[in-house]
Amino acid sequence: MADKPRNGKVTVVGAGFYGSTTALRLAEYDIFETVVLTDIVEGKPEGLALDMNQSRPIEGFETRVVGIGGGSYEGTENSDVVVITAGLPRKPGMSRMDLIETNAKIVREVAEKVAAASPDAVLIVVSNPLDEMTALAQLASQFPKHRVMGQAGMLDTARFTNFVAEEAGVPISSVRTLTLGSHGDTMVPVPSRCTVDGKPLTEVLAADRIEHLVDRTRNGGAEVVALLKTGSAYFAPSAAAARMARAVMEDSGAVMPVCAWVDGEYGINGVYLGVEAEIGREGVRTVVEGDLSESELAGLRDAAEAVRAKQADIADL
Ligand code: NAI
Ligand code: 2OP
Repeated sequence: MADKPRNGKVTVVGAGFYGSTTALRLAEYDIFETVVLTDIVEGKPEGLALDMNQSRPIEGFETRVVGIGGGSYEGTENSDVVVITAGLPRKPGMSRMDLIETNAKIVREVAEKVAAASPDAVLIVVSNPLDEMTALAQLASQFPKHRVMGQAGMLDTARFTNFVAEEAGVPISSVRTLTLGSHGDTMVPVPSRCTVDGKPLTEVLAADRIEHLVDRTRNGGAEVVALLKTGSAYFAPSAAAARMARAVMEDSGAVMPVCAWVDGEYGINGVYLGVEAEIGREGVRTVVEGDLSESELAGLRDAAEAVRAKQADIADL
């Protein structure tokens, strides 16, 4: 409907697979005035934006997509939310950490330019390695920590939910799962917080099957990379980032697993880590501390120490 109110500007930096699918999802929500898609490559975001806009009469949305190539930030000014997807994806056999040096240079430059053009924006980082790139984006932008967050937990949790629903043979809507920790080897799937139709997961699936799904979730990204051979997942990842951007713009207060600055919660201090957080117009309103089993809490603390060590190095990259 043309007369429905649409507000705000969301910029997606990086018009690759992740960025372009995110931009389209955001546009199809039909709640934003403008979605800007940018890339260092000239022509690619402009072409993608043209193509997306031509889908508007068919899909019935009014939001305009604007493509800006050549690494320019002119036209992105005063964005309310900026999603940073710029950077290389991994290839089969690579870990997310193998991307750190290349992507750090890209994310640092992007975050500095975004901060200059959109000083009041909320940043949502997706470039890998995620926890480190989120910390770097905060450092480079100098934004308050609550205005910089990373996307990982929404995706990892969605993967876990999908695996549980398929294994139990139930609808997706009857399953609740949760993953915390890092978007990497120290990811912490949290079976104690998982339910099927309100019943604890342990009453629905055998322990060895739960363990198998936990492992599959931890390796969920690599499983897709190995099948695709070039590039990594983008349909579920873009759904995750787009939902986060929407929660910010709608000031929804939704509680989501995201990579957020943790300072005191779970006895963990001063690190970007995957936790549940309430999301609103200011970014992370508050980190939500839930009940964890002893081993899950130990896993979260181990994840915090692992990413803390890496996040300490990023200042020099
Ligand atoms: P892609 O290779 O399709 O796209 C990356 C885009 O970034 C390219 O179009 C490239 O030209 C652009 N780019 C490079 N430097 C730039 C700069 N300085 N300014 C603007 N644009 C720049 O890769 P894809 O699949 O879109 O993945 C993007 C990133 O997202 C990767 O680092 C990948 O590992 C990460 N990722 C993260 C996930 C998460 O859950 N956090 C999930 C999936 C991917
Ligand atoms: C994923 O989990 C590669 O981080 C990316 O799909």
